[in-house]
Amino acid sequence: MDLKIFTEGKNDSRAIIFIHGFPFDHLMWRNQISVIKSNNFCISYDIRGLGESPAGDGQYSIESFVDDLEEVIKFLKLNKPIICGLSMGGYIALRAMERNQDLYKALILCDTKSSADTDAAKINRAGGIKKINNEGVKAYVDEFIPNCFSKKSISKIEKDYNEIIGRAEKLNPIGVKGCLLAMACRTDTSKFLSQIQIPVLLIGGEDDTLTPPDVMKEMASKINDSIFKIVKNAGHLSPVENPEDFNQYLIEFLNESNNR
Ligand code: MLT
Repeated sequence: MDLKIFTEGKNDSRAIIFIHGFPFDHLMWRNQISVIKSNNFCISYDIRGLGESPAGDGQYSIESFVDDLEEVIKFLKLNKPIICGLSMGGYIALRAMERNQDLYKALILCDTKSSADTDAAKINRAGGIKKINNEGVKAYVDEFIPNCFSKKSISKIEKDYNEIIGRAEKLNPIGVKGCLLAMACRTDTSKFLSQIQIPVLLIGGEDDTLTPPDVMKEMASKINDSIFKIVKNAGHLSPVENPEDFNQYLIEFLNESNNR
């Protein structure tokens, strides 16, 4: 397994795999893992091309990212983990469900959507690739990342905010461009939502402009066993921007799914 995987907690307790968004890394989950690791086996990993995982040839798809996820599960010999994915991590989690939901105990979808890219979004991704080619990753992430945060949260979490941007600026351009193409080519998983049989928590920031609360609410309405929560004073990175409220909803859901 060539991906960078991080585990915390005892490996005989309930397993939760955290999948980060784009263009971030496993550290975006640190405020969750530090709180729940005492009674959960927490797994996070850097998606291929991002963080400390290798970029390789940059030829990725959401399909190949699900292959990687299933490899992580096999490698760690996990039995029915809970999957928690944010944004691109959510795209991966949703396609993983569609491929084989029997592998998972429950699903947590954060600031994400089931629809595929519109034509405008695909053209925007192509513009991102062009910007990286012409001006570099730093110029691209300096423009992209600020839009992921709520104006209300940036001053409160300034240190995390600067660290997140600083790490993203150093990413391998091959990996970042590969992720942009993988997202542009993803399928629409909306029709599958009504077939999800496991418990699902949907959770998103009230000021998320990339995957707004209305979009997530609509998704929740199509899933049988779902709970939808809005995180106040947060944008697209709700677990980073308001970890207190996010963790409260996460822990409530984990306690509930324990009783099923
Ligand atoms: C993410 O946070 O993973 C990305 O913003 C998702 C996207 O660009 O579609």
